[in-house]
Amino acid sequence: MKQIRFTETVLRDAHQSLMATRLRTDEMLPIMADLDRAGYNALECWGGATFDASVRYLNEDPWERLRQFKKNAPNTPLQMLLRGQNLLGYRHYADDIVEKFIESAAKNGMDIFRIFDALNDVRNIQASVKAVKKFGKHAQVTICYTTSPVHTISYYQNLTKDMVALGADSLCIKDMAGILTPAAVKELIPALKEVTDLPIEVHTHATSGTSEMTYLAAVEAGADIIDTAISPLAGGTSQPATESLAVVLNELGYETGLDDQALITISEYFKPIKAKYIEEGILAPKIMGIEPQTLLYQVPGGMLSNLYAQLKQANAENLYDEVLKEVPKVREDLGYPPLVTPMSQMVGTQAVFNVLTKERYKMIPNEIKDYVRGKYGQSPAPISDVIKQKIIGDEEVITTRPADLLEPEFEHLKADLAGLAKTDEDVLICAMFPQLGKEFLEKKYNPKAQEADDASEIIRIEAIM
Ligand code: CO
Repeated sequence: MKQIRFTETVLRDAHQSLMATRLRTDEMLPIMADLDRAGYNALECWGGATFDASVRYLNEDPWERLRQFKKNAPNTPLQMLLRGQNLLGYRHYADDIVEKFIESAAKNGMDIFRIFDALNDVRNIQASVKAVKKFGKHAQVTICYTTSPVHTISYYQNLTKDMVALGADSLCIKDMAGILTPAAVKELIPALKEVTDLPIEVHTHATSGTSEMTYLAAVEAGADIIDTAISPLAGGTSQPATESLAVVLNELGYETGLDDQALITISEYFKPIKAKYIEEGILAPKIMGIEPQTLLYQVPGGMLSNLYAQLKQANAENLYDEVLKEVPKVREDLGYPPLVTPMSQMVGTQAVFNVLTKERYKMIPNEIKDYVRGKYGQSPAPISDVIKQKIIGDEEVITTRPADLLEPEFEHLKADLAGLAKTDEDVLICAMFPQLGKEFLEKKYNPKAQEADDASEIIRIEAIM
């Protein structure tokens, strides 16, 4: 019988995409045993924005969450999303931090590391892959999928060869924007299978309304694993529903390994949780819909709403269409970066500036300058001299691996945090979020002081009212 395996995203991407990553550990733990017995390939449950949201909004130790996951679901591999040399932060880290972070994640229970770089620059993922292998875990290397004149089948084949050479254990085609169509995937997967025998996992979002068709085409074209979310938190900007695809693929003769009864239990568990977050206004029913314009502009759904919000702030909503047309032009100028964090925000902001100031590249965010300087890695297509001149003048462009320019930083940071950080995991929280991390650790080890803080906060708010 033909096989297809499922990775469940409800504990990571589903709530990150639908409800700003707000699921709390105590809302997840009661269902872990059922998730563990349902027969999934893996549970995607950590990394991405979950680390940030735990510390920033939930006052939860993300490391403790990981340990609890492992304890409550010891049989199914746990999977995380890692932004290569950026780990779970927003800049490039030195290699020693990358290694220490992966060592800690592995020790605390992580099994599969899905590693990507926004530019598909393999130099930005090589240190993470090496560390994952060193600690005996599974390195899933990720192709960020996008379309452009340079993102051809042979581009993806060459990228795959480079990723295999790094030591990948499996590959993921990551379609963060929901723009991968059945026709495209039918061409892409057999082309990748020509150059590698590694398992291929497909990750898409239901944003544009085509995701189930894309998965069906992907499975028929030879995909080994697909990413889905249990139905209450499926659809819209999340993944398509686990149960529906399980039924369809099973009828078509695929062995899914999934336990229908366990899936029902999991689904019933999340229904009231979804209702609660809708009531609290955290899950907006609007984003449960579909946005086929995503296919037209090739702009991720989340980016569309961000652009609109930015324009509204400037009282310039009437320029929305103009900005949407500017996005692909900026992307072309910058060598066709995939629109994934952080490039989606950077390209979007530049497009807004170009339209608002009525002069292209009159105002330029520092991040765009650094990108053109080569500090994020190599752009997929070369940037023309004219654009380079406009953005950074005659400044030199670095062509080395960006992290080669960074000094080791872990021991230095650890010494700085002596007295506050009690474990390496604590130090790593501060490495990701310097100020926020310190505040978090103060609260963690001195909850009494925090209660006093909260009380004074209430008094202050009352005074204002
Ligand atoms: Co995703």
